[in-house]
Amino acid sequence: MKSRGILVKRSNCLVFFFHDGALHCKNYLTGKEFEASPLLVPILGKLDGWRGFRGVERLLPEYSPASIRQSLRRLIASTAVLVRGGSQAKRESALSAWQTWGVEARFFHLATKNTHTAPITVDEARFNRALKRREPPPPSLKRYFARARVHLPDPTSQLHGQLPEVLLSRRTHRHFGAGRVSLEQLSILLRLTWGFTNHIHWPGLGSLPVKTSPSGGARHSLEVYLWCSHVKGLSPGIYHYRPDRHELELLKAGRIAEQMARLCGHQEWVQDCSVLFVMTTVLARVTWRYRFSRAYRVILLEAGHFGQTF
Ligand SMILES: Cc1cc2nc3c(=O)[nH]c(=O)nc-3n(C[C@H](O)[C@H](O)[C@H](O)COP(=O)(O)O)c2cc1C
Repeated sequence: MKSRGILVKRSNCLVFFFHDGALHCKNYLTGKEFEASPLLVPILGKLDGWRGFRGVERLLPEYSPASIRQSLRRLIASTAVLVRGGSQAKRESALSAWQTWGVEARFFHLATKNTHTAPITVDEARFNRALKRREPPPPSLKRYFARARVHLPDPTSQLHGQLPEVLLSRRTHRHFGAGRVSLEQLSILLRLTWGFTNHIHWPGLGSLPVKTSPSGGARHSLEVYLWCSHVKGLSPGIYHYRPDRHELELLKAGRIAEQMARLCGHQEWVQDCSVLFVMTTVLARVTWRYRFSRAYRVILLEAGHFGQTF
């Protein structure tokens, strides 16, 4: 790489930690990790804004220009240093909403978001038997011994009607029939899960839309995208749901079944489903109100609420 004219800056996604007695640096956006040798740290320290290679050399006269140039190339290769105009710099600038919160939320989110890169071929029974041989699984029950106990009335006679029946029969299914979901069925699912059901008055903010699931501060940061394969009356493709108008916006037309499986960590059974509902968050809706990283948990909790309502 020619260094003349290139401007570089420290990545904003670096964490340092000790591993096996050595200082390590990890870019939690790209996943690249390397041992941070003593020279690399002072170079990174000087790269808080865009600088040319010569500028860095001038700031660190105690090191030879050749060693600085070599270190900068290593830092660029390990994604610890960004090149202005490069794809990594663009990717990082898209993360601006995360800056409201401390490093812990974005580190956890970005460092743990990537899933399997190859098909899961695990033999479930063999896998679990091997785990059990290593150590027995923890018990499924938590009990407080020697505490007073309160016997509850038998609820069986109250467990009739549609809601108890739906709740009691919910299961995860991984085999799908050849039939198609109808547009009417899709419409009901969307309306009852992600549609606006009402508006409430929020002090100082005015009218805010609400849904069938709760949302911290009524921020409703979650969006839903539909990856449609087999829906009667809807051509295959990726759609975004507009909860205010109860309509779909076509983002990309085409067959996407194989990509759906990849999106779910290469779980091949997913490609037989009619529609995959993919939730994302508009982070700024949450960070705008909640300026502390604990609010990250709220987004995950809400995704659980919507999943169960669905
Ligand atoms: C957050 C979450 C993630 C899950 N991820 C997967 C998954 O990636 N693949 C899968 O086959 N099942 C997944 N499941 C489904 C569980 O395996 C399933 O809930 C469990 O086997 C219990 O079965 P049930 O849902 O029928 O009660 C997930 C469930 C939850 C709540």
